[in-house]
Amino acid sequence: MTMTQTLEQPKTASTRIQKVGVAGCGLMGGGIVETAASFGFQVVVREVSQALLDKGMSRIEKSLDRAVEKGKRTREQKEATLAQIHRTTQIKDFADCDLVMEAIIENIDEKRAFYTELDRVAKKEAIFASNTSSLSITEMAAVTGRRDRFCGLHFFNPVPVMKLVEVVRTIDTSDDTYREAMAFAKALGKTVVTAKDSPGFVVNLLLVPYLLDAVRALEKGVATREDIDAGMKLGCGHPMGPLELLDFVGLDTTYYIAEIMFSEFKDGRYAAPPLLKQMVKAGYFGRKSGRGFYEYQG
Ligand code: 3HC
Repeated sequence: MTMTQTLEQPKTASTRIQKVGVAGCGLMGGGIVETAASFGFQVVVREVSQALLDKGMSRIEKSLDRAVEKGKRTREQKEATLAQIHRTTQIKDFADCDLVMEAIIENIDEKRAFYTELDRVAKKEAIFASNTSSLSITEMAAVTGRRDRFCGLHFFNPVPVMKLVEVVRTIDTSDDTYREAMAFAKALGKTVVTAKDSPGFVVNLLLVPYLLDAVRALEKGVATREDIDAGMKLGCGHPMGPLELLDFVGLDTTYYIAEIMFSEFKDGRYAAPPLLKQMVKAGYFGRKSGRGFYEYQG
């Protein structure tokens, strides 16, 4: 399989990375798998159970089907993309990957346990990159013997559509790793911004307080959910209002990110409002659970 057989063309193909491991096939991991495979990379995707792997792959297939229906790619190109993806539940299948992207649960203990095991099976020169939104990359790198070959690559949802990737450098990330990470993101057609390893990097540092303020506005009865969203869509040209965006990203995800940022900064702007916490505890996670600030069918 060569890159020319796929629809997408890399903007910059000057990367040593050929085979990419992706740990986690949820919304973000699955988006990274789909995008990397579409751009001709060989991808190994690993989930912790066959059921989660099947669920993630069926989301990817649906997304590719939509692209076929819209005439954005042919059925052959869809099949070529799927053929680039090797599915597994075994971490040892990352052994010959040049880059391993981690998009597992946003929990530092789980991530540290994962990297400890990954470091044992991955080849020595492989680069590790976390898609964390807010956890410390430095803390993850510390459990490996390759702090210099470790960085953050933070993608945005929906990954195939959003043009940005934040490349996060720790104090240990080598120039070579940084260059390779940038080249990989650019090869996926993304624009890159560089951030240091500070909670939330650039985008979530600014986005999270904005989303939390929208919940506070709703709590205070400043306006209805529809008017808060219309205000930001029509008044500021955002594609989605903040409450719609919360439903899209996931209330649970945003709540956990806010908790991490609050515990780091001790700044009230990052404190999750009681309404958000109540909704998460009640299982209102947004689109994925069928109910958040709005209700969803199917
Ligand atoms: N996969 C692939 N393509 C998709 C897609 C998906 N999941 N969702 C939408 N698209 C494509 C559509 O096919 C369509 O392409 P086309 O214009 O070439 O036909 C295009 O995106 C627009 O989609 P729609 O017409 O269906 O719908 P919208 O115009 O409403 O756009 C949206 C949908 C792109 C999601 C837009 O509403 C948007 O940009 N929303 C804001 C998203 C955002 O802010 N994301 C960042 C969240 S923060 C984050 O991820 C960080 C994390 O750490 C929390």
